[in-house]
Amino acid sequence: MRIALLTGASSGLGREIALRVRARFPEVEEIWLVARRAERLEALAGELGNARAVSADITGERGLGALSALIAKERPEIALLVNNAGCGFLGAFDKSVPAEQERMVALNCLALTSVTRLALPYMPAGARILNIASIAAFVPNANMAVYSATKSYVLAFSRALGLELKPRGIAVTAVCPGPMDTEFLRVGRIAGNSKTFRTLPYCDSARVAEGALRAAARGRSVWTPRAFYKFYRVVAHVLPKAWLMPLAKT
Ligand SMILES: NC(=O)c1ccc[n+]([C@@H]2O[C@H](COP(=O)([O-])OP(=O)(O)OC[C@H]3O[C@@H](n4cnc5c(N)ncnc54)[C@H](OP(=O)(O)O)[C@@H]3O)[C@@H](O)[C@H]2O)c1
Repeated sequence: MRIALLTGASSGLGREIALRVRARFPEVEEIWLVARRAERLEALAGELGNARAVSADITGERGLGALSALIAKERPEIALLVNNAGCGFLGAFDKSVPAEQERMVALNCLALTSVTRLALPYMPAGARILNIASIAAFVPNANMAVYSATKSYVLAFSRALGLELKPRGIAVTAVCPGPMDTEFLRVGRIAGNSKTFRTLPYCDSARVAEGALRAAARGRSVWTPRAFYKFYRVVAHVLPKAWLMPLAKT
């Protein structure tokens, strides 16, 4: 059985990716939808057909263990792995809730790393890994210090892993979207509380999903949606971070 394994499929960008996987990866026979909210996953699986709801908290040993056991039992060929689950909390670090800071590292970094390690033995030549980073990976963001650090991790990890996996014929793509109007803004208490998020141009999550899958199919190492953010990426590469950080404060 040839599958796509997709984390964070119950809402936002993950759901949009799930809806478009088959158009871009027709060889995928079943999509495994991973997130915590089972009822949402089951509804989406019903809508998609040939999809399996895998309800698991991938930041916990139990959830990861269950996913690992399922993979070991079914032994699927993983043609596409999408590490999309992520969260970002807004606020000054010294006033932040420690559990929320830890959750960002646990989900955005550790879970992404563990799921990738779990999946790799089942990925054949030609398979693709799609990791969702952010424009926050380009310049450190004050008031989202931990979040931007986690996304720098995703970008750096994706690039290095891509080089390591080249001889196996597996490409790794990091996608770096700007703000999208998803539950992310509510979960992270960003909505209504950040002038920067109010000012920045938004990315449409359906378009990001389509572009991300296209970039993965083509084996691109990094893809940034919207001309505005492509330009930002170049500027962030060229100018000193200290100049840009006051502007990038969230
Ligand atoms: N929205 C933005 O402005 C923005 C901008 C740049 C990058 N991104 C990145 O885009 C990705 C998708 O975010 P989104 O905007 O689509 O946000 P979202 O709608 O909040 O989606 C997050 C997904 O992650 C899942 N998730 C959260 N905790 C989990 C856990 N412990 N175990 C398993 N699944 C978990 C959620 O499902 P359950 O709650 O059901 O578990 C949900 O499906 C993230 O990596 C985010 O950092 C977002």
